[in-house]
Amino acid sequence: MNKQRIAILLSGRGSNMVALAHQARDGLLAERAEIVLVASNKPEAAGLSKARELGLATASIPSKGKRRAEFDAELLALLEPFAPDWIVLAGYMRILTPQVVRRYPGRIVNIHPADTREHQGLHGYDWAWESKLQSTRITVHLVDEGLDTGPILAQRAVDLHGCTSLEQVEQRGLAVEHGFYAEVLDTLFEGAAQAPGSA
Ligand code: GAR
Repeated sequence: MNKQRIAILLSGRGSNMVALAHQARDGLLAERAEIVLVASNKPEAAGLSKARELGLATASIPSKGKRRAEFDAELLALLEPFAPDWIVLAGYMRILTPQVVRRYPGRIVNIHPADTREHQGLHGYDWAWESKLQSTRITVHLVDEGLDTGPILAQRAVDLHGCTSLEQVEQRGLAVEHGFYAEVLDTLFEGAAQAPGSA
């Protein structure tokens, strides 16, 4: 079976990218996916150096001071030679323009640290903490042209009982994110590999 080629986009720490890289190397995604590029809009993102340490191809395009369409045109040009089957967002803190979404229709996936029907945009764990939620839901969804409005692929609950700080909320959430993202991608890629016309 051909492996799905994935490009990961991130803007910061990169803990989800690291988790996916381990799964692709010798875990759940080992037969399923190959990370062909890790790219960032922040050249200084910690996630980029972590990707380099893991031996992955990396690239960055600074987004600062650029108009959205200009940046996304550069992003598309960067991605093209890597021929990714999927764009996997892992803490990528920018909204993609329609030009990117339409180039990879139904092929861009995001992980969001909340139920996208209840909270969109940044700071999903702050929201859960400030709202005193006893549980929150991590969402993996396809990206459309809106802000966290794309079709939900799967959700997983995070128990927040007994959390006494935002750091604890985030810690519990990330522990779930790291395993959950790979599981959802595994199912998604399995379906894509079996679809008519796929290799
Ligand atoms: C993760 O919690 C991810 O769900 C969230 O950013 C964090 C990135 O952490 N994404 C969003 O908020 C997207 N709206 P990481 O860089 O350590 O993977």
